Amino acid sequence: MVKTLTGESIDRAVEYLKAGELVAFPTETVYGLGADATSPEAVAKIFELKGRPSDHPLIVHVASAAAARLWVREFGEHAEKLAKAFWPGPLTMVLAKNGRVASEAVGGKTTIAIRVPNHPLALQLLESFGGGIAGPSANMFGKVSPTSAAHVAADLGDSLGYVLDGGKCKVGVESTIIDLTGAPTLLRPGGVSVEAMNKVLGLEVVDGTAGESRAPGMMKSHYAPNAKIRIVALEELQAEDFEMPDNAGVVAPVVVEGAVSWTMPQDAEGYARGLYAVLREADYKKLDTLFIVPPSEGDIIEAVLDRLTKAAAPRVK
Ligand code: TXA
Ligand code: MG
Repeated sequence: MVKTLTGESIDRAVEYLKAGELVAFPTETVYGLGADATSPEAVAKIFELKGRPSDHPLIVHVASAAAARLWVREFGEHAEKLAKAFWPGPLTMVLAKNGRVASEAVGGKTTIAIRVPNHPLALQLLESFGGGIAGPSANMFGKVSPTSAAHVAADLGDSLGYVLDGGKCKVGVESTIIDLTGAPTLLRPGGVSVEAMNKVLGLEVVDGTAGESRAPGMMKSHYAPNAKIRIVALEELQAEDFEMPDNAGVVAPVVVEGAVSWTMPQDAEGYARGLYAVLREADYKKLDTLFIVPPSEGDIIEAVLDRLTKAAAPRVK
């Protein structure tokens, strides 16, 4: 039985945050599991509830670029440009932190990952709370991120104070993370494309997704449903000699016979919006195998392909 309180009351959510309790909140990307970013005790509850290793730093959410400046040593020219172009929005910037954030929230690092989410309820919550909300995605560690309040309640049961219900997430994959402590470096592809950032910055963002500098917690297996994922081309599924295994599902641009079939748009934006809900449905249906045909175009295709690759990666137990 899920006893979690779910609703749209900002006042109630603020009360919980001020009391050091956890509040799940909507953003345009995925739902976050929020705590007062200045409180070591509140932040510790996030790691405990998610089963997340304590050295994986959290993103701090704030209401505006002006508020972001209060948490960092320097908000430089690159940060200014990116904030102006993409905030509120699905872009997280890694900057040198000052003393405001609880060091537990940033995994003991000297940097802070910060963003202004583009969701009316999240912005109202941040303004009323008046501080920063540390928040990872509101799912169990390594699993699929939630894109609705129902997903959060299903994952985290009755162990959190309040779920602020803001409907379905409009982007559907997590924010892009860019490290601005040196040459602008991409740590995680997401809801803002590298091309769009290159244009705004007038330079080429360095790809840091594979090297040593990649974001901690960006492991190979992540965003993983229980079913075994196989990334395929549609032609493979439609080939004469293709044998559909028992208890399989297919995610493709058209209906595929002989399996539980989800149809998805070809463009990455539409695809991203529906992807995590489909991965969860595959789990509810207890499918053994899920064949996934990736999207073929769109600005955020890198982010979708990244999540699919991680969902398909061998599981680390
Ligand atoms: O869209 C999103 O970003 C969502 C919503 C809720 O805002 N949040 C999210 O949080 O995806 P999470 O915790 O699931 O992923 C945050 C990523 C982790 O890979 C973490 O290692 C990285 O951000 N990160 C956080 N602080 C960092 C830092 N100081 N330096 C480098 N990476 C950092
Ligand atoms: Mg996550």
